[in-house]
Amino acid sequence: MVDVRTVQTLEKSEATAVIVGMFDGRRPSPGSRKVLAAVGDWADRALEASGFTGKAGSTAVLPVPGGDRRVVAVGLGDEVDLESLRQAAAVGYRAVPDTDVVATTLHRVELDGAMGAVLDGVDLGAYRFDRYRSSAEARPELVLELLGSAKGRSAAATRSSTITGAVRWVRDLVNEPSVDKPPASIAARVMEMAAAAGVDAEVWDVDRLRTERMGGILGVGLGSDRPPCLVHLRYAPERPAARLALVGKGIVFDTGGISIKPAERMEEMKGDMAGAAAVLAATIAVARLGLAVEVSTYAALAENMPSGTAQRPGDVVTTRNGKTIEVINTDAEGRLVLADALALAAESNPDLIVDLATLTGACKVALGPRIAGVFGSADEVVDRIVTAARSAGERVWPLPTPRDHRSMIDSDVADMKNTGGGRYGGAIAAALLLAEFPGNVPWAHLDIAGPAFAEKAEHYIPKGGTGFGVRTLVELAEMMAESRTP
Ligand code: BES
Ligand code: ZN
Ligand code: ZN
Repeated sequence: MVDVRTVQTLEKSEATAVIVGMFDGRRPSPGSRKVLAAVGDWADRALEASGFTGKAGSTAVLPVPGGDRRVVAVGLGDEVDLESLRQAAAVGYRAVPDTDVVATTLHRVELDGAMGAVLDGVDLGAYRFDRYRSSAEARPELVLELLGSAKGRSAAATRSSTITGAVRWVRDLVNEPSVDKPPASIAARVMEMAAAAGVDAEVWDVDRLRTERMGGILGVGLGSDRPPCLVHLRYAPERPAARLALVGKGIVFDTGGISIKPAERMEEMKGDMAGAAAVLAATIAVARLGLAVEVSTYAALAENMPSGTAQRPGDVVTTRNGKTIEVINTDAEGRLVLADALALAAESNPDLIVDLATLTGACKVALGPRIAGVFGSADEVVDRIVTAARSAGERVWPLPTPRDHRSMIDSDVADMKNTGGGRYGGAIAAALLLAEFPGNVPWAHLDIAGPAFAEKAEHYIPKGGTGFGVRTLVELAEMMAESRTP
């Protein structure tokens, strides 16, 4: 979390680093010329001598003589939008990562929402996960001083910190080793968080999952000593403009089960609950922001383990809506748990269901590691997600859900099978299975197997859990609340 303050002039600042923006040709962004003048006329020449031109994403760090203050120039390129500003703020902070009090002028860039973007960038860029290092010291809360006028600071700071707080929560949970996050433990933490945010919460344990006929979640959970569960959150404001349902894949570890995965990079499968974490955190954020949209959220939590009690290839599960699935490959477990949760979400007939899931390696192959695939029951639904993601600064790209390919998942013994298409079209085969469960409710599916987990850090995205999806979901909820249906 960042403590945001307004400071009128550099003289009154306590910052040991001052981040200023510069466009191509070293043109200072609003307020930045004054900062450079205040540190001394050597600054311009030093910047030039360092080879810094203002290229987007570049930085130059100048120590101010006779003190412990540094000026960080951040390149803004030819022009900025909210996303490049968010990135610039993060890159600026990360050039001086051990600074506890930072000042900036970046919020004065002439763009609607500039302040929020700068706050997002600094807070998300400052994220670290050192809970499991014996050497980790408690760091003081980062102070960010906005230099000069900062109109609307309080509203921007509230919105930004609510959303970045949710993103950080997801990153923490994704990065946390699976040994410490069995389904029941995640559920307990969510219950606490929901109570604090005024959100109704309920957990279905194994007994309840049985009486509720949730055969997909139960099947996947069979192999683990740590039982599966389903978390349901409901945020119901007075007079909502729309009703949104969210569904998340929450596999706390995916070994593949009996169809076990190769050892290489299997540790990344601790992040196979990123979809569930994102929908849970987004729901809490929407409630904290008091948005006029009802949100009903279903997180399907289970651990996919091989054992003497594990589900086998060839087994058939009966899902919530009565449809049966033949389990060809126990590693295609996400769609089994989502089948139940989607069917359940559809029962209350919301205006829209959106699911998030680290579902297929195939989607990562198709779009690369940084872009999520988005599927849907209709083009209009996909368009809404694309629009929300674009304004939130998250990258998604539409992929088809061709109903005439349904034979890909035809089973010899059940209503469908959980894999299909052989080596090809794996993300589509998965989406076609999911499409059997939302009934007639408009539905979108985000396959976040790529962007949920970063192999390397860049701008405000750290290595490891990214918190992908939270910002898109909150943006979507805002659009629905204002009925800005794009
Ligand atoms: N959790 C994985 C998908 C995944 C892969 C997420 C890489 C993040 C990074 C999923 O459960 C899975 O194993 N899918 C299989 C499906 C296959 C067996 C049809 C896959 O993608 O290989
Ligand atoms: Zn799997
Ligand atoms: Zn999985």
